[in-house]
Amino acid sequence: MASLSGEVGGIRMESPVMLAAGILGTTGASLRRAALAGAGAVVTKSVGVAPREGHRGPTVVQVEGGLLNAMGLPNPSYRNFQEEIDIGRGGGAPVVASIFGAGAEEFVEVATGLDADGFELNLSCPHAERLGAEIGCEACNVEAITRAVKEEVNVPVWVKLTPNVADVVGLGLAAERGGADGVVAINTLRAMAIDVESGMPILGNRFGGLSGPAIKPVAVRCVYDLASALEIPVIGVGGIASWEDAAEMMMAGARGVQVGTALGMVEGYGVFRSIAAGLSAYLDRKGIGMEELVGLARRAR
Ligand code: DOR
Repeated sequence: MASLSGEVGGIRMESPVMLAAGILGTTGASLRRAALAGAGAVVTKSVGVAPREGHRGPTVVQVEGGLLNAMGLPNPSYRNFQEEIDIGRGGGAPVVASIFGAGAEEFVEVATGLDADGFELNLSCPHAERLGAEIGCEACNVEAITRAVKEEVNVPVWVKLTPNVADVVGLGLAAERGGADGVVAINTLRAMAIDVESGMPILGNRFGGLSGPAIKPVAVRCVYDLASALEIPVIGVGGIASWEDAAEMMMAGARGVQVGTALGMVEGYGVFRSIAAGLSAYLDRKGIGMEELVGLARRAR
């Protein structure tokens, strides 16, 4: 069987198939379970400086092709989160802490207050005022926040990018200039659903972010463009539910992939092993290795 182990964005993992931030990353028990189920690394739900309740409900609705959410970054604050990371580590895979803040100072406070195997800077939540894409849409903020965190921690730092901009590559280049060890693309696509009887937006926050199969082609395009322009590795996320989805993302240039919505919609924790097994069998059938798979579509003409 072809080996899938290697380094992804500065972190060694047995499989490039990871748990995405958000879904199932709130407790140590679910992080641990994803790791035991074969996730190569697990990313936590985003945490910030202070406890937050998040937006009022409904916070998640199923729509055609995926899930629409506006959770609003609910979290217990980094001060109450170390234990979850430690429990998660019991699963044997690296635990990457997803963190957010209102600016460089808050990001640094959270990153220096946590012991994790890596950090994923969430600069891309599409529906949290001053805390997500609102600052992460500006390349200068992305660069400054990345640099500030990199100066203070000695584990790999990834930057999760928003697709809700004209120029995702500009944001990726900014992360690279700031010293990021990798970029993660994409966070959810800004979206809305309206109930036709009442005429009311369904989510409590009115609009939110779309995830799942509907956004996969957007994610593949972003990964392709980023991988073509950046030296640092790109991690692909958005609508991955099968090994074919993962292979497509890797052909676009992703060195690793993250799975989120698929876990909440159809698949269970078994998705990590089924994707890895499918990828491995595909590599064997084609007689190629991972390094040839990554970016294959960029080399094909
Ligand atoms: O779609 C998202 N929802 N992306 C984020 O980064 C945060 C999350 C939330 O908590 O609302």
